Amino acid sequence: MNRREHGGEYIEFSYDGRSVRLPIVTGTEGDKAIDIRDLRKQSGLITLDPGLVNTGSCRSGITYIDGERGILRYRGYPIEDLVENCEFVEVAYLLVHGALPKADEREHFSDLLNRHSMIHEDMRNFFRNYPEHAHPMAVLSAMVISLSTFYPELESSSDEEMDITVTRLLSKLRTIAAFSYKKSVGEPFVYPSHRLRYCENFLNMMFSSPVVDYQIDPKVVRALDQLLILHADHGQNCSTSTVRLVGSSGANLYASVAAGICALWGHLHGGANQGVVEMFERIIRDGGNVDKVIELAKRKDSGFRLMGFGHRVYKTYDPRARLAKKVCHDLLEHLGKSDAMLDIAMRLEEKALKDDYFIERGLYPNVDFYTGIIFQAIGIPTNMFTVMFAIGRLPGWIAQWLEHRADREQKIGRPRQLYVGPHEHHFGGGGHRPSERASAK
Ligand code: SDX
Repeated sequence: MNRREHGGEYIEFSYDGRSVRLPIVTGTEGDKAIDIRDLRKQSGLITLDPGLVNTGSCRSGITYIDGERGILRYRGYPIEDLVENCEFVEVAYLLVHGALPKADEREHFSDLLNRHSMIHEDMRNFFRNYPEHAHPMAVLSAMVISLSTFYPELESSSDEEMDITVTRLLSKLRTIAAFSYKKSVGEPFVYPSHRLRYCENFLNMMFSSPVVDYQIDPKVVRALDQLLILHADHGQNCSTSTVRLVGSSGANLYASVAAGICALWGHLHGGANQGVVEMFERIIRDGGNVDKVIELAKRKDSGFRLMGFGHRVYKTYDPRARLAKKVCHDLLEHLGKSDAMLDIAMRLEEKALKDDYFIERGLYPNVDFYTGIIFQAIGIPTNMFTVMFAIGRLPGWIAQWLEHRADREQKIGRPRQLYVGPHEHHFGGGGHRPSERASAK
């Protein structure tokens, strides 16, 4: 039963002769939650929620998602406005600092990003010992945790030092990603340039070489900028929750982000953008038959899922997928590329959205469905798609980690469990351990 007293809402129930009264708390947009902090004390009960489908871990003022209406806002700004009117660096500043930068703040931030874009020369040697086929997500995570060894002040970052710590990571992650690509193709590293802005710098480090200067195409740069904005934050998703949980133990920012990179790598999460393009490639090899893939995805026993479809929160079209689809169309048109993959994607989407299986489960294209086609058109190799997701998501991880660190309500994350193992029991007769007992006979 729920009640309202003194302006507050409560839920009350009795269990095992004990009465329980828990407050209901309300978010900015009217979303509500039962605050269960006193549940165990009042009732002896805990909650059980595999995958934390129904469980909020924090109050957050960073990103608002309405999964039923397909709404996404960073610090109150609709994602559509940000993709249309901002650069990624401005959105990164918005997420981390809570407001869009004024002109002088924007220039100062850009200057800091440039100043911190190099990695220590000793770190170059780390790349030498990875096999060429090393997955760049493994390299990325390893390099980020290695970065922390060069900055011992990380452990005691004051607020002003934290600004440098944050900017340093935002800038260097891009350099590490590009260097890992150069290592994989056996080409010399291309250093960041102070002449270039964030995305231009990344593309130049990726695709310039001693024998060819990469021709920076403003439309390609803009497409990448918009893609990174689309990935910049998304509430308490798996990798962000990982960054928060690791940070809750007191681990430094770089250690927390290194863990978040590993969580993002999973094929059910950020790794899906690589999985989507590999799925398209299989369909093309198989003669373009999308019906077969749709039927396979509907079969429980197949173990196959339609990659880039479905979402824990969105039960309608992911607004990021809609925006990515437009970026994809515009870029392919600009590049004069008719992409077989885009054709497959559109046909898959059309078929699935008319199929009861997908309709009944609220399965729609998510952020990963179109982004891989764009990354490929830019020239990014498939195994780096999730690295691109990480570069985009980094400001969100940082903002969420900082918010958790400043949140007086928070403590070290330590969920409980429902134990279903054996009752207490002891070693057999004679005090021997089972193995000793057998040999003692
Ligand atoms: C990201 O959380 C975030 O915000 C993540 C993210 C972010 O920005 O951080 O948005 C980024 O990770 C996007 C998602 C990328 N992953 C994929 O595209 C992989 C394919 N999608 C699924 O595996 C799945 O949809 C998830 C993992 C995304 C969500 O899974 P849920 O919420 O745990 O849903 P579920 O597994 O309980 O599925 C519910 C039903 C099941 O069928 P029934 O048991 O009810 O019969 O829907 C089915 C599932 O089998 N289902 C799918 C499906 N996704 C769900 N069936 C076929 N193909 C799919 N893609």
